[in-house]
Amino acid sequence: MANLLATKPLEMIMEESSESGEHSLKRALGVTNLITLGIGAIIGAGIFVLTGAAAAQYAGPAIVLSFVLAGIACAFAGLCYSEFASLIPIAGSAYTYGYATLGEVFAWIIGWDLILEYAFGAATVASGWSGYVNSFLQDYGIHLPPSLTATPGTDMVMYNGRWERVATILPTLQARGVDPGSLAHAHGSFNLVAFLAIVAVTIILVVGIQESANFNSAIVIVKVAIVLTFIAIAGVFLMKNPEIATRNWHPFIPPNTGEFGHYGWSGIARGAAVIFFAYIGFDAVSTAAQEAKNPQRDMPIGILGSLVICTILYILVSGLLTGVVSYTTLNVPDPVAVGIDHTGVRWGSFLVKVGAIAGLGSVMLVMLLGQSRVFFSMSRDGLLPHWAGAVHARFRTPWISSITVGIFVAIFASLIPIAILGELVSIGTLLAFVIVCAGVWILRVRRPELARPFKTPWVPFVPIMGILVAGLMMASLPRDTWLRLIIWLVIGMAIYFGYGRHHSRVQQAIANPKVPAMTD
Ligand code: ALA
Repeated sequence: MANLLATKPLEMIMEESSESGEHSLKRALGVTNLITLGIGAIIGAGIFVLTGAAAAQYAGPAIVLSFVLAGIACAFAGLCYSEFASLIPIAGSAYTYGYATLGEVFAWIIGWDLILEYAFGAATVASGWSGYVNSFLQDYGIHLPPSLTATPGTDMVMYNGRWERVATILPTLQARGVDPGSLAHAHGSFNLVAFLAIVAVTIILVVGIQESANFNSAIVIVKVAIVLTFIAIAGVFLMKNPEIATRNWHPFIPPNTGEFGHYGWSGIARGAAVIFFAYIGFDAVSTAAQEAKNPQRDMPIGILGSLVICTILYILVSGLLTGVVSYTTLNVPDPVAVGIDHTGVRWGSFLVKVGAIAGLGSVMLVMLLGQSRVFFSMSRDGLLPHWAGAVHARFRTPWISSITVGIFVAIFASLIPIAILGELVSIGTLLAFVIVCAGVWILRVRRPELARPFKTPWVPFVPIMGILVAGLMMASLPRDTWLRLIIWLVIGMAIYFGYGRHHSRVQQAIANPKVPAMTD
């Protein structure tokens, strides 16, 4: 039993993180790249898609407070990630932090769990992306075969000359007294659009980290510019029409309907749990630690900087959006586009859709980057086969890992419904947050002497708050999601006991201390 809790010596990790040469990852990223990587992963389907539904169904204009709440929750985890990422700057992120503090079996669990965050996260965003692309193409009269734009079984109807998902359009149809049975129907069979998106992003990732970072930076510039344009247009509109803002923001916290989570303070909390998805991604910066030029200094700036910038943008966007349009009308797949339409700026919704389409591209990119880097680290430790850690001699990227991840993610995205994917992503990410926060605290107790380039303030208060808030959000997720998490972890344990445990280099080093087990 003791072996399962074997920790990987920090000194060994540090040595690996300073490897160089053609079989190591390339240190190409500066502080700006890291911040843009964070923003690239964070701003996506959450703000462009989920904000509207969360305001309409749960929080009303107080969705702003939901964003503040979720932002604070992420700040606890972000501070803990920053301490680890600067102390242990290695591609495995939470997986390696777990290995250094809690022991091998926990490291495996967290590594396996990160698949839920990164691989399933990329699949979720690909699915959302296909929805935006499809809607955009239909704006211009281009109709893709509906069966190739949605996952198997998705029910769609032809309404007003567009293929719409029944689940999305039903409230509108009901409000207009249209019987969905009277419309032409089609069913999804394979989401080819989402599949191709993942294939394209995977190719960029294989070609190089600098190419990937450049692609990401270009997208981030576009999407931040579009978010700022929305803020400027909506801000000017509300300054000119303050009576509209007063009407829409009143009551700021709509009274609770008597049901938990439907408006009132409980609605703000539920809204925070839903839009938590919008913040996921800042932690992915930590998986680029081995590709950062100066990780000790730049990792915390990348993680916390991107988190702060996005929190400010989110608060402004959600506040202005509910000022421009009544929250009751925001339960649509493209709320930000609807908001800008209301200001009368006719090119606005075109711009927002372009921003969302481009923006979601970089989220997929950074999530897939994170996933392949975690596999890279697990393979270097022997817990996954050797090929998963192979670095391409010319591109200096973990190419086999990236391609394998890409294939699986493309298949998930094209076959699994977005709602199931999204909840798995949230529970997986929150579990990672719990373990990272616990790890920071444990390492402070066990190795207080380590020189930490960045120190999480107020330990153990911040880690405890991180654990509590993430734990509470996990508790608010449906039972089925918990069940899927447990099944996922059971499969992971079977792989660990069937393969990882027997090939673990740390275990080999313990069993045979004279053999230099950690050499590559
Ligand atoms: N935060 C990312 C998004 O909202 C995952 O798309």
